[in-house]
Amino acid sequence: MAGKIREVKDAFGKVHQFAEGLEGVIATTTEICFIDGQAGKLMYRGIPIEQLAEHSTYEETSFFLLYGHLPTSRELGDFIRRLKSHRAVANEVFDIVRNLPKSAAPMSMLRTAISSLGHFDQDAEDDSLEKHYQRAEHLIAAFPTVAAGIQRIRKGLEPIAPDPELGHAANFLYMLNGERPTDYAARVMDVALILHAEHGFNASTFTARVIISTLSDMYSAVTGAIGSLKGPLHGGANERVMRMLMEIGSADRAEDIILQKLRNKDKIMGFGHRVYRALDPRAKILMQFSQKLAEQVGDTRWYDISKKIQEVMEREVGHKGIYPNVDFFSASLYYYLGIEVEMYTPIFAVSRVAGWTAHVVEQLKHNRIFRPRSVYLGPAHMDYVPLDQRTES
Ligand SMILES: CC(C)(COP(=O)(O)OP(=O)(O)OC[C@H]1O[C@@H](n2cnc3c(N)ncnc32)[C@H](O)[C@@H]1OP(=O)(O)O)[C@@H](O)C(=O)NCCC(=O)NCCS
Repeated sequence: MAGKIREVKDAFGKVHQFAEGLEGVIATTTEICFIDGQAGKLMYRGIPIEQLAEHSTYEETSFFLLYGHLPTSRELGDFIRRLKSHRAVANEVFDIVRNLPKSAAPMSMLRTAISSLGHFDQDAEDDSLEKHYQRAEHLIAAFPTVAAGIQRIRKGLEPIAPDPELGHAANFLYMLNGERPTDYAARVMDVALILHAEHGFNASTFTARVIISTLSDMYSAVTGAIGSLKGPLHGGANERVMRMLMEIGSADRAEDIILQKLRNKDKIMGFGHRVYRALDPRAKILMQFSQKLAEQVGDTRWYDISKKIQEVMEREVGHKGIYPNVDFFSASLYYYLGIEVEMYTPIFAVSRVAGWTAHVVEQLKHNRIFRPRSVYLGPAHMDYVPLDQRTES
């Protein structure tokens, strides 16, 4: 057992040791992802993330995560064709979204919409491995369409139909913004999707694996994962980072505001990680793209504020192993891509669905239902008191 160990006596006097938040606890084995948090290294199935970011595409990385080998050109061509053919989603799904309150958060809408996709899968209860792979492909293909459609509907616009001529990332930006992105913007989005696609036993992936371990269905597992990703301690951090950059407003105000937040014991969004005690390798890559985009767009304000915060944080809390995580530079990067802040966490989901579904399939290949225990701290014994004998305290 590693991590912060707590020792407590249960209600019957027995002493237990455990890792709060399952820190450092090994729950099962995986071949999908390796992270060395001390060295700041991340690999998908053995390939360093830097190589995938430089040479791969989101489509190829998804295939690799799901099927366990790099595709041949024929396999990749077929996979891309299948993804394109599954981009469109049933109109009924968007009708459900249209009937949700306008005030609903996009991640909550995404949770409902993805859950509803299951009702339109006629084989939803077929639990053969072949069907699971097909379902994974359908979900990877449909997530961008659903997420972009949600944002269009929130703005009172009609969803834009997928463009079969565009790759996965470019088509997503097109359906979101209504215009075809430049090649560079499409490539930046592609790299961002690759970098967010998988990350071991994080909370949302673990959620998906716990759900499928009961032999429930993939839609339930992925819907649960969306709910888990929504939280500000997980995927919700990227939106909070951008709101913090906006609150700060200019690089010369960053130091005072961050120091004040640290004095208040506030967590600075986009910093810290349960696994990394060094710079998150994904943050390093995103930082470079954010800088280039800032220069291209001719507005370095958000990048400059981010760099100043990074400098202050490294000086103040770097000794605790607190460094920028994946959410920190993705915030300014998405801003430069013209994406509205409330869509940052849904974008995370659009990417992470590849990792979630790969883990669901892997879990099913050697499944054992997850069932940990907790230490009971309630009363050792109480007798039932009939309702008419209870008094208000
Ligand atoms: C990600 C996170 C939940 C990890 O939590 P954790 O593993 O439980 O880390 P801990 O809370 O044990 O942090 C260890 C120390 O670093 C500090 N710390 C951790 N993250 C911090 C942050 N973002 N800002 C300031 N201090 C931070 C803690 O206060 C703690 O200090 P202490 O030892 O003096 O009490 C946490 O770092 C966090 O809330 N970060 C902000 C949200 C975020 O960006 N999430 C996205 C993750 S990809």
